[in-house]
Amino acid sequence: MSVQTKIAPADAKSAKHDTPKTTNKKVLAFVDEAKALFKPDNVYWCDGSKEEYQAMLKALVDGGTAIWLNPEKRPNSILVRSDPKDVARVEDQTYICSKSKDDAGPTNNWFDPTEMKKTLTKLYDGAMAGRAMYVVPYSMGPVGSPIAGIGVMVTDSAYAVANMHIMTRVGDTVWKALGDSEDFVRGMHTVGYPLSTPTTADVPWPCNENKYISHFPETREIWSYGSGYGGNALLGKKCHALRIASVKARDEGWMAEHMLILKLTNPEGKSKFIAAAFPSACGKTNLAMLNPTIPGWKAETIGDDICWMKFGEDGRLYAINPETGFFGVAPGTSNESNYNAMKTLHANCIYSNVALTDDGDVWWEQMGTTPEHTIDWMRRNWTPNSGRTAAHANARFTAPAAQCPVIAPEWEDPKGVPIDAILFGGRRATVVPLVTEARDWKHGTFLGSIMASEKTAAASGVKGDIRRDPMAMLPFCGYHMGDYFAHWLKMGEKGGNKMPKIFYVNWFRKNGDGKFMWPGYAENSRVLKWIFERCDGKADAVDTPIGKVPADGAIDVKGVKVDPADMKAMTTVDKEGWKAEIPLIKEHFETFGARLPQGLKDELAALEKSLS
Ligand code: OXD
Ligand code: MN
Repeated sequence: MSVQTKIAPADAKSAKHDTPKTTNKKVLAFVDEAKALFKPDNVYWCDGSKEEYQAMLKALVDGGTAIWLNPEKRPNSILVRSDPKDVARVEDQTYICSKSKDDAGPTNNWFDPTEMKKTLTKLYDGAMAGRAMYVVPYSMGPVGSPIAGIGVMVTDSAYAVANMHIMTRVGDTVWKALGDSEDFVRGMHTVGYPLSTPTTADVPWPCNENKYISHFPETREIWSYGSGYGGNALLGKKCHALRIASVKARDEGWMAEHMLILKLTNPEGKSKFIAAAFPSACGKTNLAMLNPTIPGWKAETIGDDICWMKFGEDGRLYAINPETGFFGVAPGTSNESNYNAMKTLHANCIYSNVALTDDGDVWWEQMGTTPEHTIDWMRRNWTPNSGRTAAHANARFTAPAAQCPVIAPEWEDPKGVPIDAILFGGRRATVVPLVTEARDWKHGTFLGSIMASEKTAAASGVKGDIRRDPMAMLPFCGYHMGDYFAHWLKMGEKGGNKMPKIFYVNWFRKNGDGKFMWPGYAENSRVLKWIFERCDGKADAVDTPIGKVPADGAIDVKGVKVDPADMKAMTTVDKEGWKAEIPLIKEHFETFGARLPQGLKDELAALEKSLS
């Protein structure tokens, strides 16, 4: 038996899949070039069907990459354990290969595009020997939506194909929507583990020590090598929907952002749409699915990670979630932290690097009751006394968004939803108030540009404890961040007073005892209520040097225990703390050199002045 049958679906060579479903010449040429380079055994044109998805899961199980979970516990779900050397996005091996180094800017790893292609062409040569090359047509966003975008990805990973089925819209309708257009992102992905001879044995998780996640923004191409995990391999997600899309958005006058989108409805039945950018580990998925604790308020999910926004005919910004699934971090997810995510996970999911319980279910840290025994993500016996975690810290679930019990009815509306407010946030134990309303779009852009997150309850201004992550786009902006800020300002000039209001939130303030001042999670709905009402010109606010903060009593805390002294501290501007922040902001801004827009310099100067 050839090894190849282990890693490709049984019908990989059938007529159903070996003929192109498109006559688009650019697509055909792209696939031909990929085939000549990778030298796969065969080419498999994906149709996005349920049968195809099942065939991928079966291939992964038959090939030893995955196991079925207990169908009584997790119907139609698999568990995949990756190679320990391939467990996360590799930011230091992620490259922006723009023609000019300056265009990649100081926050990206730049590589000359010609050199990168030379290097990768050598590595790509024959890299799919013994494997199938899947061709995946996908749409980011509802197929045919004016905000959506199309990609064609070739890959030798059935795991990537199955994940793309959940995370994007894969299928023949994409070819129809694309027609003869050249406007698609070309993605090439290989795990970099050729089965060079018919007897070369495959491994459960093929990958390569060398990894290159390369982006060519000018030609809208992604060349990914050596990793099969997450954002390195699911090219629709970070590579396309953020790094390439951010460049396309700048060129075409729209926005591709690392934001969740939620719909909030008040007791009178009036709804607003809120987009929010937070760096990793700040509870984006939790906020996207929260159940408000204030009576009569309702929150529904549009998306949990990425938001594309374009101006509608009425001059407002309309947003879509370009994805169709959640690729969420499993550890920490529980009925308490995210009830709706747990419900979403009941069936039809792919779990990566979580632990396996003795009854064939999944488990991860802080999921709930700790089992006495599991098989950990490295396939070893694990007990609570093992002295290590059972799930990898970046263990993931891939879950269909449609399964989320609070998915908003508008989540697939091709025209998108009009955004009323944009939130920025980070994890800051000190200085940054619970919520601050920006004075206007320009000031809001400034607040987004200085966004930061810290790991520890550091004293204010202690350098090194704070990572600046402007708009939560640090690892995802495909071009010079100074130009990215300028693009934000330009969008604001175009949208004028129709732009969303901007708020800066911080759920993570700590008091002198090192305890969180704010209960967070679902209680964040109280802050969302204030934001909602501010958008309608209601709810009281006080002007401060950093923007408007809630007036005394303006945040509804009925029914929740918050120390009034903590509440006061969280809604008062810590002038000394902000003064200490100024030199750090200056240093941060200096990294962008001459490309830092004057508008942001002006905002910083105004802040400094108003604090003095
Ligand atoms: C993600 C991330 O996986 O931001 O969404 O890292
Ligand atoms: Mn993300």
